[in-house]
Amino acid sequence: MSASTEKPTLIVFGAGGHGRVAADAALLSGAFARVVASDRNPATWGSDLLPGVPVLSPEDASTLPGPRVVHVAIGNNPVRRDEAARLAALGTLATVAHPSASVAASARVAAGCLITAQCVVGPMAELGVGAIVNHGAVVDHDCRIGAWAHVAPGARLGGAVLVGEAALVGAGSTVLRNLRVGAGATLGAGAVLLQGLPDGEAWAGVPARPLAQASA
Ligand SMILES: CC(C)(COP(=O)(O)OP(=O)(O)OC[C@H]1O[C@@H](n2cnc3c(N)ncnc32)[C@H](O)[C@@H]1OP(=O)(O)O)[C@@H](O)C(=O)NCCC(=O)NCCS
Repeated sequence: MSASTEKPTLIVFGAGGHGRVAADAALLSGAFARVVASDRNPATWGSDLLPGVPVLSPEDASTLPGPRVVHVAIGNNPVRRDEAARLAALGTLATVAHPSASVAASARVAAGCLITAQCVVGPMAELGVGAIVNHGAVVDHDCRIGAWAHVAPGARLGGAVLVGEAALVGAGSTVLRNLRVGAGATLGAGAVLLQGLPDGEAWAGVPARPLAQASA
């Protein structure tokens, strides 16, 4: 096998629950020669993230032979973005996609994304660097998900929704078509968004409103 076609070793960075989801999808995808994990927390070193997926120190991970790629498996969006910048020397960023996910042939998926079980990424949708589409989420046609954003489990985005960089679309929420979720914004779990959500704001409820109003 030539070097160009050799499957790489995947380092899943982040030995928590989100890391387990990424490692499981990576194993099932068959895209990697080997899957290991790494974490900055010494308490995790020497444990198994999943059966057959050992957790290594970053130093040990950096000595793994062969082609290496890294998937940063940290749920917090800004932390994931910052770790990815710090880990550039460990390997290039890899996207991990669970084989049960439905990703349209015309969708564009950038590096470092996590596409988990049973989710849908529709035609002409775009996922930015490091974006997460979590279990059972629907990202419909022509949506654009910004870098380091997270579409949480069971969220549903209508067609042509824009999600800004590092935004969180909460679990089980619904966003009507053509709307925009601003950069760094949070849409609460279970919310139904009927109008644009400004950058950096947190909205919740049905219909979604700024959090202070939603909980009043
Ligand atoms: C909306 C959210 C960001 C608020 O978090 P927070 O700022 O820590 O807010 P708190 O938990 O202190 O709650 C503040 C108020 O908002 C209410 N609230 C919190 N989340 C809410 C939600 N999703 N819908 C409606 N009301 C909500 C609380 O009941 C509370 O009301 P009160 O002031 O009357 O007691 C958070 O609850 C949420 O839904 N996050 C999304 C989580 C998610 O989906 N993660 C993905 C996991 S993979």
